[in-house]
Amino acid sequence: MYNLTDRSVVLGVTGSIAVYKAVDLASKLTQAGALVDVVMTREAAEFVRPITFQSVTGRRACWDMWDTGSDVPELHVALARRADILVVAPATATVIARLALGLAEEMVSLTALATRAPALVCPAMDPQMYEHPATQGHVETLRSRGVLLVGPEEGRLASGHRGRGRLSEVDTIMGAVRYVLGRTGDLAGKTVVVSAGGTQEPIDPVRYLGNHSSGKMGFALAEAARDRGARTVLVTAPVALADPYGVETVRVRRAAEMRDAVAAACGDAHALIMAAAVADYQPAEAAGQKIKREKLEGLTLSLVRTPDILAEAGRRPGLVRVGFAAESDELLANARHKLEAKGLDLIVANDITAPDAGFAVDTNRVTLLDREGGVEELPLMTKYEAAWRILDRVAERMTK
Ligand code: PMT
Repeated sequence: MYNLTDRSVVLGVTGSIAVYKAVDLASKLTQAGALVDVVMTREAAEFVRPITFQSVTGRRACWDMWDTGSDVPELHVALARRADILVVAPATATVIARLALGLAEEMVSLTALATRAPALVCPAMDPQMYEHPATQGHVETLRSRGVLLVGPEEGRLASGHRGRGRLSEVDTIMGAVRYVLGRTGDLAGKTVVVSAGGTQEPIDPVRYLGNHSSGKMGFALAEAARDRGARTVLVTAPVALADPYGVETVRVRRAAEMRDAVAAACGDAHALIMAAAVADYQPAEAAGQKIKREKLEGLTLSLVRTPDILAEAGRRPGLVRVGFAAESDELLANARHKLEAKGLDLIVANDITAPDAGFAVDTNRVTLLDREGGVEELPLMTKYEAAWRILDRVAERMTK
């Protein structure tokens, strides 16, 4: 059902200390429903034995191209044909050179040469090796052939040095795999704008009016839209989540800034989904300096309305507008009132009194209400699964 379910991922693992992260990657891909076949170089197998990969994927990991024990003749050709994507992580300078030159000297480069599946290469090496003109030339060659390079990242390396050479985080690589496999999804060619997080309305340089939104629901929506092929713009208030791979992320703080960013992104968009908890009011004036403790007692804040972003986004033909309603009582009646007041296509009613739904948790229990009077109550599910269900409804409306 999701874009990794039953997809064939060939994971090429090469000889870098970062191999240990590839075990986690193989495990997460498998847990997400992918069929993961690991091919390794002999050097990679010096760092981590194939049995480790076999244990997390449930499938035979292969490093020896002369291994005649396999019941599949020409295993590299079989894997190459079956692959929906080839991921090389970590990719050493040597293997990047082999991929660029088409040298099929071991299982990873052999499989890479034989496949026509999209390829994703995640370099990991000493920064001096990465910056070397030879490596840079090979990287450019791969890019010009449509290979997607992910990383390397800046940071501390196993050698103790710092620089650009670290393997990207596993979540980033997972995002890139989902992005590549999603490119042909049902939202390909569409632009989806999502808002996330809780806006912060400053009282002074230290304090603000805010709420408990963690951004998880909005980020899940943005990731799911990306995974179905949409160009996705995520406008987020301050949250502790990293920018999702392949999503154009705009960071804002106040409701007014979110309004401007959403308006700019909505110009040619097909859908706007407002999962953000936007402050309804802001202090009429923010103090320029920190308000001294003694002046806080009895302080009265004068509040003024913030812009209503969803209402301002207007009813442009072709723009599907979806709101959220986080409610602690009269869930459906309050949600329906907001749907009508803002003239929305769909509203997601979110009961925030349940401990496993609403703010900050990874799961949600929501009811979808549409402008035609339809009501769909969804059971408890992860926010990503809920996002997928919401997008099913958005996709239907886009084609209406
Ligand atoms: O971020 P998480 O921790 O994962 O939590 C997710 C969530 C609980 C924040 C999310 O699921 C949710 O319910 N978001 C809506 C929060 C809310 O109560 O919105 P509201 O009822 O104040 O507003 C209704 C709709 O109008 C929302 O879509 C809101 O984004 C939008 N709005 C509100 C005020 C405003 N000034 N402009 C708006 O566009």
